[in-house]
Amino acid sequence: MKTLKNLPVKKLVYGGYGLAHVEGKSVFVDYALPSEVVDAEVYRENKDYFLARTKRVVLPSSVRRDAPCPYYQECGGCQLQHLDYAEQIRAKEDMLLDTLKRIGKIEIKNLESSLYAEEFGYRIRAQFKVDRGRLGFFKRKSHSLIQVENCLLVHPAINQLLPALRELLRKIQTVKEVHVLYSPNEDEFLVKLLCDNTPPRDKIRKLKNTILPKKVVGIGVYGEGEVYHIGRNFSFIEASSYRYRVCMDSFLQINYLLWDRFIASALLKASFNKVLELHCGVGFFSLPLSKNSKFVVAYDSNRSAIKDAEYNAKINCVENVSFNYEISTEAIKRHAGEVIDLLFLDPPRSGLSGGEAKLVLKNKPNRIVYVSCEPTTLARDLKVFLEGGYKIESLRMVDNFPNTYHIEAIAHLVLD
Ligand SMILES: C[S@@+](CC[C@H](N)C(=O)[O-])C[C@H]1O[C@@H](n2cnc3c(N)ncnc32)[C@H](O)[C@@H]1O
Repeated sequence: MKTLKNLPVKKLVYGGYGLAHVEGKSVFVDYALPSEVVDAEVYRENKDYFLARTKRVVLPSSVRRDAPCPYYQECGGCQLQHLDYAEQIRAKEDMLLDTLKRIGKIEIKNLESSLYAEEFGYRIRAQFKVDRGRLGFFKRKSHSLIQVENCLLVHPAINQLLPALRELLRKIQTVKEVHVLYSPNEDEFLVKLLCDNTPPRDKIRKLKNTILPKKVVGIGVYGEGEVYHIGRNFSFIEASSYRYRVCMDSFLQINYLLWDRFIASALLKASFNKVLELHCGVGFFSLPLSKNSKFVVAYDSNRSAIKDAEYNAKINCVENVSFNYEISTEAIKRHAGEVIDLLFLDPPRSGLSGGEAKLVLKNKPNRIVYVSCEPTTLARDLKVFLEGGYKIESLRMVDNFPNTYHIEAIAHLVLD
């Protein structure tokens, strides 16, 4: 493999790479930091760029640290553990601004102060890969498994469950993935087993009762063509004084340490007559939004999430939100021509689907809140909104995913 010697690293770019230049090409270097000089081993060469991995740090940055996790650089889960946490925040702010500028041609002058909490133990949801009874994560850019005894990103309770899960896996050979959801409010787990062949229900029931702790209140078995649950398929969490039921198949924001502040930062102080929300999930933002709104109409394309959201409105005595199962494009069309005071968006990484941003412009809601977990699609969609007459009132980075390259952001827009 080709080694690029003495590469000066210019900056950190989205994906967690250190960016360098050589032979007229860009080099995206794993585990390299700005102002460092590194030797890097190329693992892919394209017409315009190299992908490479740091082999030796010739001149280290003053903000480099020894990664606290023993699996770091082997496991693909984290990309930034070699960077001091305060610097991770600064780097993510820069990467967010850079991405908006590069893709959206958007200049942000005053980024709000970022939201962050503890850098470890924040994930209440984890998806472990399984290979012949071994449990862990995939290696970086590979599908080979690295077995882990302990993951620093997940809630400590999830790590405590791992020995029991490993024992369970020794008894069922067909499991490909184990998903765990932990409720820090109820101190209980939901476990989902993704299997090649569906193991018999009686066997799973027996294993649940004999091997797993009582805190595992439900197991979902997802085999080819057959799905069943033993025990409960849902748990409850609390955020911003609301109680939410969350089913195993519904989306839930993974960083429980930021739930309250995340909601508070996304909401606006003003009151609204009519709010349209397109990616509502279990109502995580919808219920708090309902407090200052006359009426919220909320949509999601996941039936399980909508059922949870309807239930959540009831248990929180919220009567001014209607939850609907529909994809966002159809939802926007349904409300074409209506007066909407606030449009609330929180799409998946792919951002708004083709044409949705333009459809929004036909409606021209007075304000838009865009919660995004992918800066590149945020930049693309914001560009359309800005060209359509909106201005960005505020932008804030939310570090929902410390030690990884992922970046969450909240943008507040208003008609200019
Ligand atoms: C990032 S999650 C946010 C959910 C919710 N706002 C929350 O904070 O829990 C994105 C949500 O968008 C939903 N979704 C994905 N594609 C969609 C589409 N085309 N139309 C409507 N909802 C969609 C997913 O089911 C998921 O619940």
